[in-house]
Formats: sequence, structure tokens, C-alpha cells
Amino acid sequence: RTGCFTYDPGFTSTASCESKITYIDGDKGILLYRGYPIDELAEHTTFLETAYLLLYGELPTKVQYDAFKLRITRHTMLHEQMNRFFSGFRRDAHPMAIMVGVVGALSAFYHDSIDIRDPWQREMASIRMIAKMPTIAAMAYKYSIGQPFVYPKNELDYSANFMRMCFAVPCEEYEIDPVLTRAMRRIFILHADHEQNASTSTVRLAGSSGANPFACISAGIACLWGPAHGGANEAALMMLEEIGSVSRIEEYVRRAKDKDDPFRLMGFGHRVYKNYDPRAKIMQKTCHEVLAAVGHQDDPILKVAMELEKIALSDEYFIEKKLYPNIDFYSGITLKALASPPTCFTVLFALARTVGWIAQWKEMIEDPSQRIGRPRQLYTGATERAFVPMDDRH
Ligand code: SDX
Repeated sequence: RTGCFTYDPGFTSTASCESKITYIDGDKGILLYRGYPIDELAEHTTFLETAYLLLYGELPTKVQYDAFKLRITRHTMLHEQMNRFFSGFRRDAHPMAIMVGVVGALSAFYHDSIDIRDPWQREMASIRMIAKMPTIAAMAYKYSIGQPFVYPKNELDYSANFMRMCFAVPCEEYEIDPVLTRAMRRIFILHADHEQNASTSTVRLAGSSGANPFACISAGIACLWGPAHGGANEAALMMLEEIGSVSRIEEYVRRAKDKDDPFRLMGFGHRVYKNYDPRAKIMQKTCHEVLAAVGHQDDPILKVAMELEKIALSDEYFIEKKLYPNIDFYSGITLKALASPPTCFTVLFALARTVGWIAQWKEMIEDPSQRIGRPRQLYTGATERAFVPMDDRH
């Protein structure tokens, strides 16, 4: 064991990790958070209820839930001096660049939450990170559109508070829409954790060195930004808009199958799921609900997505390679209908995944056998050779 990772020299890229948090059966398309099926949690819990489950291992009682929710609520504001941090970015900076910078800088403001050997500091870092992510994400969005920051409101629940911080303006109050906030809650729950994906493994590896939790989450945000990972929701919507109409789908499916063409169907395929991503089904249902709620049920992009899914799932290339829609396939259309700009899709993914990153980081840090992660390699470079002075090199 090196830290959380078990390295088996017989495999070039296999590193496994023990965890009690999330279970995925990629062949059967099963996803469980602490043993509970994702569809039941997405339907019946609040995001903070699921956050409590991921962090502490059990669904909270009413007393436990109310205490947890109060602690989170009381830490949603950001140190006022951090507001100036945002103004150091260009207005057109990608919000994920702002998230990486601001979250990493939290360790410069919350000195009583960075000593990971202290259980109280670890707990405070977890609470602060989960509490402040919606505020930071909303500020990154507001900054990018040149609108003033909106402070959190303690009487609102997590998703409503976030949407109000994004869309309220000083000139008029933001009207909370229960259908849209329910959809946002469900989206947060679907994205909360997913076992040892690339960004979670990044957080664990960074944390295994003893780095402070804010720096580890910042590393996770940076990794999630990639288009093969959390950036796929933005890429999938751009792909669907580029396809534009059902008549052009065949051309893009052909390109996706062409080994010489770098084009990939964004939102399709997965490192683990070789069956339908259970989150994709819930996201598709949520997509229909949101589009109907905002009067866009005839959105042509939805028609393209549904037809593309139907064609791909009946094509032998995708069947043979077991490529199915993943969570990102419908999330872009849904988030656009929720009025999020595409550049903020991955910001929302990072906001929700912060709970999983913190839960996984906490599990690793609290494992007494934990050591620094140190993946090894299969060396394929030059064997030892004598040095040659520059004048003798030809
Ligand atoms: C997320 O790990 C997680 O849990 C991630 C995540 C989470 O919650 O954290 O689930 C979130 O990142 C979801 C994935 C989002 N990314 C995309 O939708 C980008 C498009 N997808 C592909 O880039 C790809 O499917 C990956 C990156 C997701 C997986 O890459 P792999 O492991 O190479 O793909 P695979 O095992 O699924 O591929 C098998 C074959 C390969 O061909 P061969 O080399 O065997 O000939 O299918 C091909 C791939 O080239 N292939 C695709 C394809 N995805 C894989 N061909 C066309 N279109 C695609 N989308």
C-alpha cells in the first residue's frame, strides 16, 4: 500500500483504493452512495441530507440534519477581503480558472482549518468548503457578467440559495421557482460523488501529502475542468449545437467511429460504466421537467440529443464498445435551460462534487494506516549510458 493506492506492478495503469463511500457496478449500471441507490436519494433527499450521508456514513435523523444544516448555513459567507481577489481576474476569465484560484486561496484566510492533524480543524474545513462553494461559484458567475455579488440568505435551502446568489439583482428580488430548485437539487445529488474518478483521485493524492484541504479541493477542480472529465457537459452541449439538426447526426456518428478522426461523441462512454450510466437516466427525466417548466419543451437541441442517443445505441460500433450516454449527455441542455451559461456547467459539477471530494479526503486522512500516495511506473526509457561532453555530441 502506498497511501490509499494499492499498486500492482503487473498492471500499467491499475491502481485501486479501499473506500466505504460509493459503489459502482459498471456492467450493471449500479451506483450506490453508502449503500443507497442514487435514484432514491435523488428523488427523496435534500442535497445536505445526501452530503451528511456521504460524510458520516448514515442518513441523518431530524436532529442531526437540523444541526448540520445550521452549521453549513452559518458558514456560507466568504471573508469580505476575498471579494477583492475576484477583481484580479479579467472579466472574461473562464469561471473554472477563478474557482481554482479562489478555492486554493481559502487556506490564506481560514488558518484555523488547515492543520489536518486536528480533528476539529478537519471538521471545520469540511463544513466551510461545503458551505462556501455555492457562494464562490455564484460570485465567479456574477463577476464574469459584471453584476454585483449577492450575499447568501440563511432562510433558503442549499440549491435555492445558490440560484438566488446567481440570478438575483439589487434592482428586483429573485423569485424562487420550486420546479427549477428541485431540478438543481437533483443535479447536485447526481454529481456529488463517483468513487475514484480522476478528480477525486487527484484530491486523495494531494491530501496524502498532508496538504491543506482547500489546496486539495483546488487541485480537484483543476482536474475536473478537463473535457474528458467534468468539462464534458459543456463540450456535449457545444457538440449538440454544432450538429444542429437531426439530419446531420449520421455524419457525426460516422466521424466518432473513424479512428483517424479525433472527434468523440461528448457525453458518451465511460471508464467504468459499460452499461447505461444510472445518473444519465435521471438527468434525462430532469431535462424534460426543466424544459417544460421554462416553456422550451420543443427545444430542437433536445430532439437532436434524443435522436443521437437512439442512433448511437443501435449502432454496432457503440454496442460492441459498450458506449452509453453518461451523466454529461443531458446535463448541458438542462443547465442551459436553468439559465447557467456553458462556461459555468463544470463550475456546478465542481460545486456538487466538493461533497464527494471532502468525504473521500476525510476517509483517507482518518485512516490510521494512510501514507503518502506514490504511484510507481513501468520504466521504458534508455538504459544507463556514459555522459558525452557537448563538443563531442553530433
Ligand atoms: C465523467 O470517472 C468518472 O467517474 C467520471 C465521471 C464522474 O462522475 O466523475 O463519471 C464524470 O468524466 C464522465 C465522462 C465524461 N466524458 C465524456 O463524455 C467525453 C467523451 N467520452 C470519451 O472521451 C471516453 O468515453 C472517456 C474518456 C469517458 C473514457 O475513455 P476510454 O476509457 O478510452 O473509453 P472507453 O473505455 O469507454 O472506450 C472504449 C473504446 C475506445 O476505442 P478503442 O481504443 O478501444 O478502439 O471506445 C472509444 C474509445 O476510443 N470511445 C469512443 C467514445 N468514448 C470511447 N468513441 C466515440 N465516442 C466516444 N464518446
